[in-house]
Amino acid sequence: MAPSKLETTQLSARPLHDTFGAEVEGVDWSESPISAGIIAEIKALASENGVLVFRNANLDNDQHIAFARQLGKELYDVKAHIKAGRAMRFPEQPEIFDVSNLDDKGNIVTDMDPMRKEGNKGNFLWHADMTYNPHRALYSILRAVQLPPKGTGGETQYLDSRTACEELPPALRAELEEALGCKLEQVVTHNSLMHNRKLGSPDYFRSIEPLDQPMAKYKLVTPHEKSNRDNLYMTSYAHHFDGKSWEESKPLFDKLWDHLTQDKYILTVYWENDGDMVLWDNTAVLHRATDSGSYGSKYVRDMRRTTTKDDSSYAFGENEDHTWEAGISKVKT
Ligand SMILES: [Fe+2]
Repeated sequence: MAPSKLETTQLSARPLHDTFGAEVEGVDWSESPISAGIIAEIKALASENGVLVFRNANLDNDQHIAFARQLGKELYDVKAHIKAGRAMRFPEQPEIFDVSNLDDKGNIVTDMDPMRKEGNKGNFLWHADMTYNPHRALYSILRAVQLPPKGTGGETQYLDSRTACEELPPALRAELEEALGCKLEQVVTHNSLMHNRKLGSPDYFRSIEPLDQPMAKYKLVTPHEKSNRDNLYMTSYAHHFDGKSWEESKPLFDKLWDHLTQDKYILTVYWENDGDMVLWDNTAVLHRATDSGSYGSKYVRDMRRTTTKDDSSYAFGENEDHTWEAGISKVKT
């Protein structure tokens, strides 16, 4: 059912798609901190719509971090990457994930840094942020600092995995349940960052064996508490189903992807202005970066993200130990 224009007390939200996504107006981003009432409205809109687009928010790094802290008690940070030797542009602000095409000196990443360039190809596959960690992510807040020229690509796509869950064909559900020997609600996936990286760039990461590293376990169908809807928590980090090998799991994953990736579930967000910001709920939607454009190594695309940790009952999935974080493996070339 198509959502009507949402009326809120202070913010207005314009639907971007028949089933999810909204462009939100009315936040005074110069206010710091943002008022508790506005934060509550943003959270409610995010739970309902999954993806919120804010045009011309124009936050700086400190405001971006402060806003994320208002939305979530705990933020992910990049301290582990810094410790592992990766040079970062913002070492003093480890809550900022640098998802630009720039190195720490501000130069466009080229073939000189194949690890980063090849690793980024995994982001072109559908995923939810941090599914490979035993404490999953809730909100990702991505802001454009400097965009490439219009028409050179860099769109972000979103997928309505809650509606796809509700519309799972009964025949596919029955097939999965028979193959996996349990109700779909009991099915568990094992998730690996390096599996996604290998799918994105099989040749470059050929020496990596995802099974050599710990994997994070989540139910395939996980309730989204904040909206009281079920979500198909299926990402390209999913390496295998519990009790099945990768080879046995892959044909079943492919059938799920055929269902999930239908055009009717997909929303493309075009970044229009430096300063635009998009917030999404990783426990309700999937997303991917796109590789359709030509900005590549020609134009600066400076994007930065903050990420909050899930605070729902399902935050740790099926993971008893949720103290570790996955890292990038060294590649033998
Ligand atoms: Fe992502």
